[in-house]
Amino acid sequence: MIEAIHALRQQAEQELERLDDAAALPEWYRRYLGRKGELTQQLKQMGALSPEERPKMGKVVNKVKQTLEDAFHARQQSLQTEQLNRELAGDDLDVTLPGRPVHTGHLHLTTQTLRKIYRIFGEMGFQVYEAPDVETDEYNFQLLNIPEYHPARDMWDTFWVNDQVLLRTHTSPGQIRAMREYHPDPIRVILPGKCYRYEQITPRSEHQFFQVEGLAVGKNIRLTDLIGVMSEFARKMYGQEREVRIRGSYFPFTEPSIEIDMSCSCEKVGCRLCKQTGWLEIAGAGMVHPVVLRNGGYEPEEWTGFALGMGVERPALLKHGIQDIRYFYGNDLRFLQQF
Ligand code: DAH
Repeated sequence: MIEAIHALRQQAEQELERLDDAAALPEWYRRYLGRKGELTQQLKQMGALSPEERPKMGKVVNKVKQTLEDAFHARQQSLQTEQLNRELAGDDLDVTLPGRPVHTGHLHLTTQTLRKIYRIFGEMGFQVYEAPDVETDEYNFQLLNIPEYHPARDMWDTFWVNDQVLLRTHTSPGQIRAMREYHPDPIRVILPGKCYRYEQITPRSEHQFFQVEGLAVGKNIRLTDLIGVMSEFARKMYGQEREVRIRGSYFPFTEPSIEIDMSCSCEKVGCRLCKQTGWLEIAGAGMVHPVVLRNGGYEPEEWTGFALGMGVERPALLKHGIQDIRYFYGNDLRFLQQF
C-alpha cells in the first residue's frame, strides 16, 4: 500500500509540473486532494490494515497530503507570476490608452461675479471689508437711522435669532463697522456678503442672496463722485457702451437717495430683459445720512460720503439669461458647469 501511495504522489507531482494554465489547477486539486480525490480513497482503505500498521500508514498519507498541498500552492504562485509577466510583455496591455480624466471643479458663478466686482472697485482704490452675517438689531437697523417704529423695516423682515440678534437683511450694517474701525481716516471700501430675508422662494426671489455695498467717506466727497464711480463700474463690468442714469429714491440711511440705472444691452431700443424700458436697475445709493456718519464716528460738518448697495445674482442672471434665481443655490452640476 505504501508503494501505491508513493506512486500516486509521483503521478500527481508530474501532472502538476506539466500544467501550464492556472485555470486547470482546481481540477488537479479536486482529483488528488478533494473530498472524493485519490488520496482520500487511499485513506479509506486503511480500515483493512492491522492495528499496528494503521498509525504508520496514517503518518505517510498525511505527509504526502501536506507535500502535495505545498506543491499545489507553489505551482499556483508560479503560474500566476508567469501569466502576469506574459501579459506585461505581450501587447494586450495598451499603455497609450488615455486614462479616465479627473473631474476638476471651478468657481461658482456667484464667486466669479464677486471677483470681477472686487477687481473693478480695487482699480478705483476700494478695499474689500468683510462684516458678519449675524448682526444685531442695532447695527442692521438702528444705527442706520431705522428706529424700531420705522415703516421701512417692513421691507427688511428676516430670520431672528432672538429679540436683538438677526441674520442681516443687507450689507449696509458693515458701513457702521467699517467707519468705527477706520475712524478718523478717509474710507474707500466695498462690503460683499450674504444677506437674508423672510421671503417666499420663487424664480425671482430667494431668502438668501449676495450684495455688495460700497462706502466712501472723506472731505469733499460729492454725488458726482458716486455717479462717476458707478459709470466706470458699469462700463468695466458690462461693456464700454453702457450709460448710467439716476432717479430720486428713498433710503433711511442716505440723503439724498437715488437709484442707479444702466442702459440695457439692447441699446435703449427696449427688449424683454429691460421690460421695454431700455434701462436696468443696478444699485440703490446716495450720500451717507448725517445721522449715520455721526453713528460711525465722523462729524457731518467736516466729512461727507457716498454709499451704494447692489445685488450680485440678479445682474449675473440678466447677463446670462438665467430664468430662475433658485439655480444659484440648487447645486445642480448641469447648471453650474455652464459657467
Ligand atoms: N441696503 C439697501 C437694500 O438692501 C441697498 C442700499 C441702498 C444700500 C442705498 C446703500 C444705499 O448703501 O446707499 O435694499
